[in-house]
Amino acid sequence: MTEPLWQKSATRIDAKIMRFLAGDDVILDREFFLHDIAASRAHVDGLANIGVVTPNERDAIARELDSLAEDFRSGQFVLDERYEDSHSAIETRLTERLGDAGRRVHTGRSRNDQVLVATRLWLKENLARLQTHCRDIARVCLDRAEIEALPLPGYTHLQRAVVSSTAMWFAGFAESFIDDARRARDTLAWIDVNPLGTAAGYGVNLKLDREYTTRALGFARMQVNPVAAQLSRGKFEIAVLDAFASALLDLRRLAWDLSLFTTAEFGFVTLPDEFTTGSSIMPNKRNPDVVELLRASFASVAAARTEIEQLLSLPSGYQRDLQFSKGSIFHGVRHGLMALELVPDLLARMTWNADAMRAAIEPQMYATDVAIEQAVAGVPFRDAYRVAAEAAASAGRGRAAEQSLAARVSPGAHADLRLDELRKRLDLLSA
Ligand code: ARG
Repeated sequence: MTEPLWQKSATRIDAKIMRFLAGDDVILDREFFLHDIAASRAHVDGLANIGVVTPNERDAIARELDSLAEDFRSGQFVLDERYEDSHSAIETRLTERLGDAGRRVHTGRSRNDQVLVATRLWLKENLARLQTHCRDIARVCLDRAEIEALPLPGYTHLQRAVVSSTAMWFAGFAESFIDDARRARDTLAWIDVNPLGTAAGYGVNLKLDREYTTRALGFARMQVNPVAAQLSRGKFEIAVLDAFASALLDLRRLAWDLSLFTTAEFGFVTLPDEFTTGSSIMPNKRNPDVVELLRASFASVAAARTEIEQLLSLPSGYQRDLQFSKGSIFHGVRHGLMALELVPDLLARMTWNADAMRAAIEPQMYATDVAIEQAVAGVPFRDAYRVAAEAAASAGRGRAAEQSLAARVSPGAHADLRLDELRKRLDLLSA
């Protein structure tokens, strides 16, 4: 490793301790390296605005930062053990290439606000991705809800309850993923504040142009107080993971449905071939592994959240413990996105097996319809309920699932799904 930026004295640097301090930073920091470069550029431009670096120095640094970004993208530059972290790598490169101008970039900045701003930009980018995936999933669900209305048994307690439909099932997940997209959007708006310029957490004796860096980096607002900026590290990561958890929780339940519905016992759904795998020993098997891993992805997000929550038992101000929040947030978000990305295609191409679904609908499932019909005809509901319970099977005989569904007129239910309203909400999110 090159000498740490903070090395001042002749104290020997112990390799094992350095490795422990740096942790996986050079690997992890690759995630937000480009954001770190972009924020460095904004910082230097801001310094030029207040006369701390000359226009020439600013331009030279900007060019060098561009070339570093380019080299990183092409693989020419690798962020590796030569450096302590991405922040050191940037300064080292600028200093190697530009001498004193490079040595000026860190004026009025600390790695504490540097890591905050790079992470913040990364979080925003990934919340935008989350929102897009949720919208894509909702759109497929709405599209299918509009064109398919097959009777599907509706379960409570995993026991046959009342007749439902594929349209109601799809519309239900559409609305849920619209909620999730909205939560991603709202969370993005919530964390859209610029911590750059808060330095180590207590400001600096320079009139930094924080309004400029806020605008240049595309933030909605400045995070005003330096102490507040440090308090938001970890707290904002948790908010982001909560937004992911919301979507992945819906996905977990969707995946559960699919893994049940594809069993021979249910047989309601056939998955697209690409979404199933074979067994290494049982030639007869097609397994829904993808669906199972979709279901499992919630665990990564929940674990990441827990790790950060545990880390945050801290006094105010920067504490090195916070460094460990990077691994968890990157891991949780990566798993979440990898899972959600697959869902639109899966949902667009899975097929319903109408006969198996119909065969699982039994006359008892019309008992609620019967009781409510009688209640409407004047029998007090509790009496109608008892009569229908005793004669559940016979009362329902001769009824058809379609008839039950056509009468399900309560707003939101099968006969009044209000897909237009859901579509409107979805479109509003895309605007
Ligand atoms: N790798 C560090 C982190 O993620 C960067 C900030 C280091 N700051 C410090 N004062 N040692 O927290």
